[in-house]
Amino acid sequence: MMALQRRPHLLLTLVCSSVVLLLLLLNGAAAAGETGQLTVFWGRNKDEGSLQETCDAGLYTTVAISFFGVFGHGKYWTDLSGHPVARVGADIKHCQSKGILVLISIGGEGDQYSLPSAKSALDVADHLWNGYLGGGGRGVFRPFGDAVLDGVDFYVNHGGWEHYDELARRLQSFVRRGGKAVYLTASPVCSLALKDDERTMRKLEVFERLHVRFYNESSCDYNYFETRPFWGAWVTWSSRFPKARVYVGWPASEETSGFVDPQTIRQSVRWSVQDVANYGGVMIWERYHDKMTGFGRAIKDIV
Ligand SMILES: *[C@@H]1O[C@H](CO)[C@@H](O)[C@H](O)[C@H]1NC(C)=O
Repeated sequence: MMALQRRPHLLLTLVCSSVVLLLLLLNGAAAAGETGQLTVFWGRNKDEGSLQETCDAGLYTTVAISFFGVFGHGKYWTDLSGHPVARVGADIKHCQSKGILVLISIGGEGDQYSLPSAKSALDVADHLWNGYLGGGGRGVFRPFGDAVLDGVDFYVNHGGWEHYDELARRLQSFVRRGGKAVYLTASPVCSLALKDDERTMRKLEVFERLHVRFYNESSCDYNYFETRPFWGAWVTWSSRFPKARVYVGWPASEETSGFVDPQTIRQSVRWSVQDVANYGGVMIWERYHDKMTGFGRAIKDIV
C-alpha cells in the first residue's frame, strides 16, 4: 500500500514527460495508441486457477504457459507448479477457440537450462516442434496431447542469449516448410538494453514481439520519485526494435519490484508508453498475483 500513498514530484514528472514527448516528436512516428493486448504468464502457482479459468476471465489476449525450464542437455521438462497436466490440452483448445494465443514460455526462474552449442539449439527446436507445435508423430511425447500451441516465448534469465536466435530460426524453418505459423516472442530483462551489448541485441531481432520486463530490476523499474530510468529504457527498447511489437512487462503485485498502481498508469504513464508507433500492449507477471490484485482488470480498458 505504501507505493499508493507516495506522490511523484510534480515538476520532475513534467520535465521527464516533456523530454520523452520531445524524443517521440523528433522520432516522427505515429503513436500506436491503445491496442487492447494483454499477455499474462500462467503456470507459476497452482492457486491461480486453471488455464481455462484464466482464458475465461475475459482479460487476456495471450497466455504464456510457464515454464519449459529443463532443456539443453538431453532432458526436457515443463513445470506447471502442480497444475494437473492432463487437462491442459483441452484448455489450450478452449483458449484458442476464444481467439486467445497460447504460447509455451521457455527458460524461467530455474537454472536447469542453457544452450551450450548450436547443436543443442537445434535439438531443443526439434523437441519443441514435435512435442508442442505442429510436428509430432512417431511416438513423440506431447504433454498437452494433440493441442498445437501458437508459439514460443523466450524467458531467458541466465546464461545469456547465445544460440537462442538459432533455436528461433530453426522453428521458422519448420513453418516455411508448410507448418502452421509459430509466433516467436521474447521476454528480455529491461536492463539488457542499457548494457551496450549489440551482439545480444541483434539476436533479439528475430522476435516479432518483445515483452520487456520492467520488474525485478532496479535499473529500470518504474520509480515514483525518479521516472527517467524507466522512460529512457522504454524509448531505447521501442526505438531499437522498430519492426517488433514492444510490450511493457509489469508485475501484478507490489510484492515484485516495479509495480505501478493502475491509477498512475491510467492518469499518466500510459500516454507516453502508447505514444510510440510499435507499442504492442502490456505483459503481466503473473496470473496468480493478477487474480489476487485485479491489476489487469483495472487497466484492461486502457491498454
Ligand atoms: C528476479 O531476479 C532474480 C535475480 O536475478 C532471478 O533469480 C529471478 O528468477 C527473477 N524473477 C523472475 C520472475 O524473473
